[in-house]
Amino acid sequence: PVLVVDFGAQYAQLIARRVREAGVYSELVPHSMSLDQMLAKDPKAVILSGGPASVYVDGAPTIDKRVFEAGVPVLGICYGFQVMAHELGGEVDKAALGEYGKTEAFIDSAKGILQDSPAQQDVWMSHGVAVNRAPDGFEVLAHTEGAPVAAMQDPSRGLYGVQWHPEVTNTPLGQDLIDRFLHQCAGLPSDWNASGIIEQQVEEIRRTVGDDQVICGLSGGVDSAVAAALVHRAVGDQLTCVFVDHGLLRKGEAEQVKHDFVAATGIKLIAVDASQDFLSALKGVSEPERKRKIIGEKFIRTFEKAQRQVIEEAGKTGKEVKFLVQGTLYPDVVESGGGDGAANIKSHHNVGGLPKDVKFKLIEPLRTLFKDEVRAIGTELGLPDQIVWRQPFPGPGLGIRIIGEITRERLETLREADAIAREELSRAGLDRQIWQCPVVLLANVHSVGVQGDERTYGSPIVLRPVSSEDAMTADWTRLPYDVLATISTRITNECPGINRVVLDCTSKPPATIEWE
Ligand code: XMP
Repeated sequence: PVLVVDFGAQYAQLIARRVREAGVYSELVPHSMSLDQMLAKDPKAVILSGGPASVYVDGAPTIDKRVFEAGVPVLGICYGFQVMAHELGGEVDKAALGEYGKTEAFIDSAKGILQDSPAQQDVWMSHGVAVNRAPDGFEVLAHTEGAPVAAMQDPSRGLYGVQWHPEVTNTPLGQDLIDRFLHQCAGLPSDWNASGIIEQQVEEIRRTVGDDQVICGLSGGVDSAVAAALVHRAVGDQLTCVFVDHGLLRKGEAEQVKHDFVAATGIKLIAVDASQDFLSALKGVSEPERKRKIIGEKFIRTFEKAQRQVIEEAGKTGKEVKFLVQGTLYPDVVESGGGDGAANIKSHHNVGGLPKDVKFKLIEPLRTLFKDEVRAIGTELGLPDQIVWRQPFPGPGLGIRIIGEITRERLETLREADAIAREELSRAGLDRQIWQCPVVLLANVHSVGVQGDERTYGSPIVLRPVSSEDAMTADWTRLPYDVLATISTRITNECPGINRVVLDCTSKPPATIEWE
């Protein structure tokens, strides 16, 4: 792999993704990992990420200097670039001028990682420390107003560095720089792709599972669907899927799983309609965390019951269910490995969560993958676009998009409003530009309106379109006014009791994506 050494950067995951986008497999490792452990992974190249520290401060995170002599090409980015400069004898100090955000870079020598680069280009910076003099043997490739050395290289040792962030989209030529480092400078081929991943996973799953039985909880979301399809490709009818309909799904979604998914894959599916049960448990509950707890708990219990049924059925034929499939993605793995006690903002429950008292071995075929890779695999496996390109949807579903008590009637209203918004966004070709667009019903808020010369006293619907790379941060999407107008008109016309549509124009932070 290409190792991305994380110095506590906001963008370390993004670097790993960009490397994959260049067709090269990457893994994130913490800077605290020993060099021997890193080298044991047989890295084809190393990228040092940015980070919040200053290299000249005592105790600042660093890396064993021998990494620069290990014969592996190294690219330092931002803090990683400063670590490289500092460790190799360059001069690194507080910058005369800190640069944050869009900055103009002047290319002094368009070679190596900056081969054929335009003489001036916009780059994304975030630094208050600068490299004033490059270490011996390095050639300076670029500077900015605040960074006398903004890019440098020593191709004879395979060492490269940039002060700016090539991994963010605000650096328009950033991906080119990463591509050049990987392909030209490090000589790596572009061979990481969907069909290769499928082949490798199928083989591994077959080896692990043997002739035992496998069970998988489907949430209707992309991850569990792709994980199930992948396992099914590997072991066919040894897999049984369980789908719990908690009655908080969007319009048409239960049908999509029950019919389209099964039609596309031929998977054995047990569908449980538990909506009545969930609604009764949620009666009278308005507090978001309580809703989440109830839904999470109920879900696990329902899933367990269905699971026991599958185990019993298998038992009758003398077989044993030994494995459980989970759609865990790489960011979840990285985040839980971080273990830095992040604040509990919301209790996210992962639908299909593992009941504690049942002992299964886990199969997590998506453990090394990012969302975009999962989608590519889903498409390659023949899953329909409506499943592969489904927006992220929270486990507790529409339950946390009704602010106030959840009732059947309110669910119907919200389901309709949500369907209208989705339909119009699709019609306008905006599906892949937005990350997701929660539609929220403020059930306890009432405002005065007028419809057909009559006074109304109805509730508002909130549209919450967001753009994001990973849902950790998000910006509100500037949807075209005419699309907003169409959605608004249709919702107020077609959804009884709704007399206002409002737009949530808040980024995350300070808000979260969902309202509860
Ligand atoms: P927030 O609201 O925390 O959401 O900004 C971030 C992302 O997570 C989704 N989300 C959930 N997903 N179970 C899930 O599987 C949950 O309980 C849950 N709550 C929020 C949300 O839709 C967004 O994509």
